[in-house]
Amino acid sequence: MTTIGLAGAGRIGAGLIRLLHTSPAARSLRLKTVLVRDRAKPRPELPADTPLTACPADLTDDPQIDVVVELLGGVAEPFGIVSQALSQGKAVVTANKNLLAERGPEIFALAAERRLPVGFEASVCAGMPIIRTLQEALRVDRITALEGIVNGTSNYLLTRMSEERASYAQCLADAQRLGFAEPDPGYDVSGQDAACKMGILATLAFGACVDFRRLPTSGIDGLALEDVRQAEAMGYRIKLVAAVRRPTGGRVDGEVAAVLLPLHHPLASIRMECNAVRIESEGLGETLLAGRGAGPAPTAVTLLADLLDIAEGRARIPTAGHPFLAEVAGFADQQAAASRYYLRLAVADRPGTLAQVAGCFASQGISIASLLQPEVPDLAGGSLVPLILTTHTTDRGRLDLVLAALAAAGCGRNVVLRIREH
Ligand code: HSE
Repeated sequence: MTTIGLAGAGRIGAGLIRLLHTSPAARSLRLKTVLVRDRAKPRPELPADTPLTACPADLTDDPQIDVVVELLGGVAEPFGIVSQALSQGKAVVTANKNLLAERGPEIFALAAERRLPVGFEASVCAGMPIIRTLQEALRVDRITALEGIVNGTSNYLLTRMSEERASYAQCLADAQRLGFAEPDPGYDVSGQDAACKMGILATLAFGACVDFRRLPTSGIDGLALEDVRQAEAMGYRIKLVAAVRRPTGGRVDGEVAAVLLPLHHPLASIRMECNAVRIESEGLGETLLAGRGAGPAPTAVTLLADLLDIAEGRARIPTAGHPFLAEVAGFADQQAAASRYYLRLAVADRPGTLAQVAGCFASQGISIASLLQPEVPDLAGGSLVPLILTTHTTDRGRLDLVLAALAAAGCGRNVVLRIREH
């Protein structure tokens, strides 16, 4: 029998407790203690006999507990609990991406020193086994690039905006109700959640510590239904994509951003809260993994699988060569990357505006591929109206010069997205 101490009884913790009671696979596991921040809070979702404590030492220092599962969220408090548990000889399972992205090297150093497993499959893409794939199936191949949809909330929003023309605000409220979104959904829609996850995946894939804070990051929070519609009219779908690339011996290049994907792209058909990651590696070529990337049920199933690996002695014990303990990866200069772009600007509705905008692009040698000013009423006074345009291939440095010139000329810059051709 393997005895578990659980830190955190929110929606995911409650899902895991339910699974520990009901899954035949969990027969060899016993839940001893559950750490909560507030013992007095009513918890109708938990079985009445759930043994609660508000004292972390009841988990970390209890000699009967073999594994501590950390589901608290945040970084400082979970780090204290995880490091104390490891110091006391306990294995750890966590779904906390922020903890790993920020304190991963310290946690894995301690785990390697104490020869204890740390299960963290649930920390990235919940029910989609991407960490196992990188650490096991692909461990002998050299991975050169990863790109994926790794934030379920953003993909859920974009899918519903595309398929139902639903409003952004309504979709976000539904994502919160269904348990996909973070406590602060701004973390999802700003791309930060995806950057944090991609930092962990890139570290495992490249065998070098990739600091997610260095990935240029933007989200879907500035997008409107109009952008989703226009992209589709042009034969593309807007997706929040986290991408990293590392050529042989080279620096990491990547970003998290909403991009226009052609409909035939493998990530374009990933719907709702599903996640997918496309891996490029020398031996296998392309590998695509897709699955349920957010939500209490898939996360609980993944946590249970990590617990069983530990209980059955199959969990990986980190060594001094663990990717989180490797050198810190350098980053490449972004300005050189060439791409086509989609822009939605806000321009003054008056004679000469189009000539002025076209002149700004011409002065940087950027060719406009399409231009649309949706029909507007015959307003007086030069009010701001949308202008949607796409460019032929250019580099971001030159585009930024155009955007600066347009801003100086009084144009508002609403949306700038890269267009992917493949
Ligand atoms: N909020 C995350 C998402 C799930 O929407 O993908 C937890 O990582």
